Amino acid sequence: MQPTTRSRIFCLTKELNFKRSLSSQELIERDNKYGGRHFKPLPVVLTRGEGVHVWDVEGKRYLDFLAGFSTVNQGHCHPRLIKVMKEQAAKIAHTSRAFYSEPHGELGEYLTKLFKWDKFLPMNTGVEAGDTAVKVARRWGYRVKKIPKEQATVVFAKNNFWGRSIAALSASTDPNCYTDFGPYVPRFDKVTYNDLNALEQKFQQDPTVCAFMMEPIQGEAGVIVPNNGYLKGVRDLCTKYNVLWIADEVQTGLCRTGKRLAVDHENQRPDILVLGKALSGGMYPVSGILADEQKLAPTEALLPEVRLGTESPWKQLRFWRRKISRTTHENLDKFYGQN
Ligand SMILES: Cc1ncc(COP(=O)(O)O)c(C=O)c1O
Repeated sequence: MQPTTRSRIFCLTKELNFKRSLSSQELIERDNKYGGRHFKPLPVVLTRGEGVHVWDVEGKRYLDFLAGFSTVNQGHCHPRLIKVMKEQAAKIAHTSRAFYSEPHGELGEYLTKLFKWDKFLPMNTGVEAGDTAVKVARRWGYRVKKIPKEQATVVFAKNNFWGRSIAALSASTDPNCYTDFGPYVPRFDKVTYNDLNALEQKFQQDPTVCAFMMEPIQGEAGVIVPNNGYLKGVRDLCTKYNVLWIADEVQTGLCRTGKRLAVDHENQRPDILVLGKALSGGMYPVSGILADEQKLAPTEALLPEVRLGTESPWKQLRFWRRKISRTTHENLDKFYGQN
């Protein structure tokens, strides 16, 4: 017998009521049973947020001092952000980079004018932005610094944290992060944080170093603030040895430390700035790097066939054109020309 619309609505309402009435404990058990685990959350199930407050499913209110590890620095569900999210999602939610879109250039213009680097290259997560910074530095190393093929070395500060991808854990000195995930990315070297002598020694000994990546204040390491003058020292050494300075401000950026950027405390300017987390207002993942044209130019030189991101749209288009009928093919030719 076919269920009537009425009985379907009844079942759905019952299911929704059931979902709503699950206790924190039940929700935690379900999560643990079905969710792949890589994190150990606090035993609190949040259901609502507003400004600095969050509520659990039992209605208990908390002051959120964690702010999504700085992702929701502007507070939960900021009404202005909700408004623009709704408006854009209702207009067009995804275009891919095969096309131009209105907000993409607007974001680039806003960020480059605000931070005063030439270009902004967006990604989604902080770890991807770190990865992109390493790729840009390696290519710059081969094409500008003339490091021999496959020899480019990136130096990282010990106790860094920039995510859990293969590249990020290869850069890590924390066994909890890298154990049993090898083999690791080669030519990642590590140096003691906040030690300019050790850094200079590395640069002196190894002419294959293309970049030094570090956090201006180390976050996951335990909020380690370096000595006064460290950031200036890093800038001077990177300039002296022709090494790119990558500052990872995924945690410290966007006013978290009292200045717009943590490097502003010493008025220093890295070659590549990595941003993430609060960049999107905590609404969805947006990250990216800021750099000057001359650092990014070697990576753009191969456009359009070999790029940092996904495959060239023209290559994809040609592939699909081979697959479709002649008539459609002719129509596409009319539409796109012979590109
Ligand atoms: C300094 C730093 N960089 C990068 C990342 C990675 O960001 P995401 O989690 O968005 O990939 C983190 C994450 O906590 C971080 O603390």
